Amino acid sequence: MYEPEILRGRNAYVSGGTSGINLGLAKTLARHGARVCVIGRDAAKAERAVREIATDTGGEAMCMPVDVRDYPAVEASMQQAVQQYGPLDIVIAGAAGNFFAPAVSISAKGFKTVMDIDLLGTYHVFRAGFDVCRKPGASLIAITAGQAVKPMPFQAHVCAAKAGINALVRTLAMEWGPAGVRVNAISPGPISGTEGLYRLAPTAAEQAEIYGRLALRRFGTPEDIGNAAIYLCCPLGGYITGTILDVDGGFQLGDASADCLTPTR
Ligand code: COA
Ligand code: NAP
Repeated sequence: MYEPEILRGRNAYVSGGTSGINLGLAKTLARHGARVCVIGRDAAKAERAVREIATDTGGEAMCMPVDVRDYPAVEASMQQAVQQYGPLDIVIAGAAGNFFAPAVSISAKGFKTVMDIDLLGTYHVFRAGFDVCRKPGASLIAITAGQAVKPMPFQAHVCAAKAGINALVRTLAMEWGPAGVRVNAISPGPISGTEGLYRLAPTAAEQAEIYGRLALRRFGTPEDIGNAAIYLCCPLGGYITGTILDVDGGFQLGDASADCLTPTR
């Protein structure tokens, strides 16, 4: 859909790019010519992701085992990516953790764990990324979620963390825009075959219920998210900053299960 080489010569860093949505996103970037560095905690999983990117896209990728809660480790991994590829053009903060539990069952440590991975981790990736990105021209993208604006029982920790991410994105867009660095977020809806969807709706029946309420009546794909990321980071999106782009099939609109296309009177 885009010119096949639209990202040729661009360097990307994707936190949490070792599985699911972010791996799909990393592949979409690589397929369009970008060199991609993916990071996650599990070294073997990260190595597998690099092999998969190379096999599926023919693109160039590298990885490092990094916990986004560890700022010096995030910084060091970016330095290594810059050493290998050059300054970063695209920085994606996608690493996240989630579990479903009512607030009364979430310990202070459990709440902090998700805040640290999602919100603090996004800050770490953006803060270290700003120092090593190409200025002007770089594009920083956080992966947020509908929970940021839509309260959801069993998700107090995630709602708080993702709302913080949205606020961070809009603030950094103001602070870093004068340097020619754009900061945006993508808010995916339920994406098929991913850990996040499995945790939200583990059974086929629960997934069908979500599916039936979605305006577009389909789950998204990692490619849907990758295509939105390309739009935000290529010149087509060059005047977009501080935006939370919903790529969610209408998830945030609410329950669209009513049949409004069959005239009843
Ligand atoms: N209900 C309540 N609390 C839970 C929980 C659950 N289902 N799962 C984990 N926690 C709590 C733990 O109990 C622990 O607190 P405690 O010691 O006071 O009990 C705290 O969270 C930290 O858990 P731990 O497993 O030590 O953290 P971790 O850093 O190893 O793992 C998670 C982080 C919990 C977010 C883990 O699910 C993870 O690694 N997720 C990554 C993948 C993922 O979530 N993908 C979907 C992205 S949307
Ligand atoms: P996933 O496959 O579990 O991806 C999470 C990634 O983050 C993995 O690569 C994981 O690798 C990494 N990660 C987790 N904790 C980390 C840490 N402390 N440090 C570094 N890396 C860490 O989940 P997903 O469902 O694709 O979700 C990806 C993103 O999309 C998340 O931001 C999520 O909130 C968002 N999202 C998902 C959906 C959905 O339907 N799936 C909907 C809305 C938003 P390791 O475990 O090896 O660290």
